[in-house]
Amino acid sequence: METLEYTATETEVDFLPLNGTDHIEFYVGNAKQSAYYYQKAWGYKLVAYAGPETGVRDRASYVLQQGKVRLVLTASMHPDTDISSHNNKHGDGVKFLSIWVDDATKSFNETVKRGAKPYMEPTRMEDEFGWVVISAIHTYGDTIHRFVERHAYNGPFLPGYKAPLNALEVEPVGIKHVDHCVGNVDLGEMNTWVKFYEEVMGFKLLLTFDDKDISTEYSALMSKVVSNGNGYVKFPINEPANGRKKSQIEEYIEFYHGPGCQHVALEVHDIVATVSELRNRGVEFLYVPENYYVEAAARIGYIDEKMDDLKRLNILVDRDEEGYLLQIFTKPVEDRPTLFYEIIQRKGAKSFGKGNFKALFESIEREQELRGNL
Ligand code: FE2
Repeated sequence: METLEYTATETEVDFLPLNGTDHIEFYVGNAKQSAYYYQKAWGYKLVAYAGPETGVRDRASYVLQQGKVRLVLTASMHPDTDISSHNNKHGDGVKFLSIWVDDATKSFNETVKRGAKPYMEPTRMEDEFGWVVISAIHTYGDTIHRFVERHAYNGPFLPGYKAPLNALEVEPVGIKHVDHCVGNVDLGEMNTWVKFYEEVMGFKLLLTFDDKDISTEYSALMSKVVSNGNGYVKFPINEPANGRKKSQIEEYIEFYHGPGCQHVALEVHDIVATVSELRNRGVEFLYVPENYYVEAAARIGYIDEKMDDLKRLNILVDRDEEGYLLQIFTKPVEDRPTLFYEIIQRKGAKSFGKGNFKALFESIEREQELRGNL
């Protein structure tokens, strides 16, 4: 059952204070074309670029921003690079879940002291816009947490990146910030990674969902949500649970060839407007059957939005003790059934939509069946 595990106390000292998500960097096969998708379909603005034209010889990176969300899309120029081998193994996927900190050296030292595997020692970089310090540690699979200290920097992104000479005209869709980033890990590994976030990064366990909460006829998973002290960074961790057939988490791990980032949830101002616009631009979302809305109207009670709009757009709604939330999930945005996005609007609720799990997973299973993976 869902259990609430944690209440913060004021006496605790946070050894890893975090300001929020700094950026999410993807390793992709063709960054130029991916950047076009995120600009034209999602309304992100190209704010910085690094590549051969800026003196970077081995890669091209496009930095896209909307609200406080920054995505970096990086592709390799050559076959024998970390970027190419990551892309060859995983397909397009998240390499860096980067966190904004005040002190990247202390963040590295405190986490490595507690057992983190180092990826990059604290490194100072500078250009005409100031200086930054970057460090990084490993998390699940080939995914990395990068710590970014940028209080002395006012360039377009980081040293080495330049403002683009010309950027496409874009129309934002109302994306505000990253709400949470979910990791899928191997069977039996969820608690190992929860312990990593607790002991190495000082996170607290917020919520636990077991397979009684999250199980349909076929697909089952277990999930625990960890959060940093101020709640700005939340990393739910999923592992497969026994179902009659292959769970969505197993399908992800099979096609990603290991653990990795399953979905990024983006908070928006007005989910009805955002989803209408994204659908107009061709972004594909999971289908929700009509009977969900008959049941939802009875379960949720009064909401500000029109139930007909939610039904038309396939937006899900759930209520907890503090309010309600609206959410919807895209289909995977790569050829492989790996990373997808959640669009979420919180109206008081701090939870994750437990009341929607069954409808959601039945919808995912319909898609798995179409792919021949159930
Ligand atoms: Fe989510």
